[in-house]
Amino acid sequence: MQKIERDVVVIGAGASGLTAASELRKAGLTVAVLEARDRVGGRLWTDDIDGATLEIGGQWVSPDQDALIETLEDLGLDTYERYREGLNVYIGPTGEKRTFEGEIFPVAAQTEQEIVTLIEKLDALVAEIDPDQPWAHPLAKDLDEISFSRWLETQTEDEEARENIGMFIAGAMLTKPAHAFSALQALLMAASAGSFSNLVDADFILDKRVVGGLQQVPLLLAERLGDDVHLNSPVRTLRWGSDGVTAISETVEVSARFAVLAVPPILISRISYEPPLPRRQQQLHQHLSMGFVIKVHAVYSTPFWRTNGLSGTAFSPYELVHEAYDNSYHGDPRGTLVGFVADEAADGVFALNEEDRKQAILESLSHYYGDEALTPEVFYLSDWGSEEWTRGAYAASFDMGGLARYGADLRTPVGPIHFSCSDLAGKGYQHVDGAIRMGIETAAAIVERAGA
Ligand code: FDA
Repeated sequence: MQKIERDVVVIGAGASGLTAASELRKAGLTVAVLEARDRVGGRLWTDDIDGATLEIGGQWVSPDQDALIETLEDLGLDTYERYREGLNVYIGPTGEKRTFEGEIFPVAAQTEQEIVTLIEKLDALVAEIDPDQPWAHPLAKDLDEISFSRWLETQTEDEEARENIGMFIAGAMLTKPAHAFSALQALLMAASAGSFSNLVDADFILDKRVVGGLQQVPLLLAERLGDDVHLNSPVRTLRWGSDGVTAISETVEVSARFAVLAVPPILISRISYEPPLPRRQQQLHQHLSMGFVIKVHAVYSTPFWRTNGLSGTAFSPYELVHEAYDNSYHGDPRGTLVGFVADEAADGVFALNEEDRKQAILESLSHYYGDEALTPEVFYLSDWGSEEWTRGAYAASFDMGGLARYGADLRTPVGPIHFSCSDLAGKGYQHVDGAIRMGIETAAAIVERAGA
């Protein structure tokens, strides 16, 4: 067992931990980063699957994500636009396929009006929410006691309008059923992206991708940190007190003045604390859980949908794959579709055997794009639920009532221990931008305390 001393030990080499470590290093503090996996990046993972470069984890960058954009510039990474020319596809409750342009789905005029009104109402409410402290809204407690699906029922009797608006936050973002999280949690999700309209606008929220893959961010940050990043080092015990911390992993033990716990909040309680974390922390982490979504990639010899006049963008709250996009990789002449299967539908997919799983997903894609979608050259399903050091996707959110009750303590340090993760962020919540923001803020707080 290697024993080392540093100013700060960072636990977790995702975008957040590596940003914190880089900022601390810039301020003149010494750091060690302990990472459980045999790679850096956490939920950012770009890999070669059967000859295709695929983003198994996070990939998109939107124009409001200035912390991420600055990091990309600093690291010299280039971006490219998602293909978006042509018509989008919507499948309604009867299975009827319709093409459309813009953001509003081709539904009956009455339903369209209800959708527009709901978006306006949500935008107005979101404008009142500070993403850094949604619990401070005067109606926070009430909004946290009602599920998002129930709240939508109080707004409109139009089921198709509710299903569509629900999908943008439930299947597409928090990746939990709309009955499993509160209206306040939904408003935080939208406020973190600037407005509800931004979430509905695929051209905004899924704007750019990074040449070489988004995992370049953690890989390049880790490269700068060099030998101070220790892989295969899951921290099992954290001793802490007024004089600092000792983080004990399987390979290395680090004594430091401060610790940054840069792990998803659902994994905080996997570590043994000596002494135990305070009551409030032990309670609050029990009220957070990961959403669950399968990210599916299908690579074809050509982007055949483009020749058929389609953009590749497709939505339906009634399909197994509730949203899908052209995800062709920069410079690859082949065509790639990415689709998402969320929450209970994802449970159902994993209950099938491997062949039936593939068949069910490809059939759903064929409903949007035609029979050519049934025969990809490469097919890959992400399985973040089986990843011990993540346990779901995309990120963690509170159960009913949890955000108003515990939110204010989420980011509060405990003695020398600070918390940093996209799942704790306000702006950029559940996104790489939030991970980086948290890393910068956490490092600044430690630098101030350290008097560096
Ligand atoms: P992250 O979970 O990445 O890092 C935590 C690290 O801690 C991991 O490396 C883990 O192994 C390590 N760890 C845990 N316990 C440990 C222990 N005890 N000891 C040592 N190490 C430990 N975002 C976005 O902006 N655009 C997008 O398009 C998407 N899409 C997307 C798709 C999919 C499928 C996923 C799973 C996620 C996304 N996201 C996304 C979300 C985005 O990937 C995510 O918010 C950030 O990468 C999270 O970064 P963090 O550093 O906060 O946590």
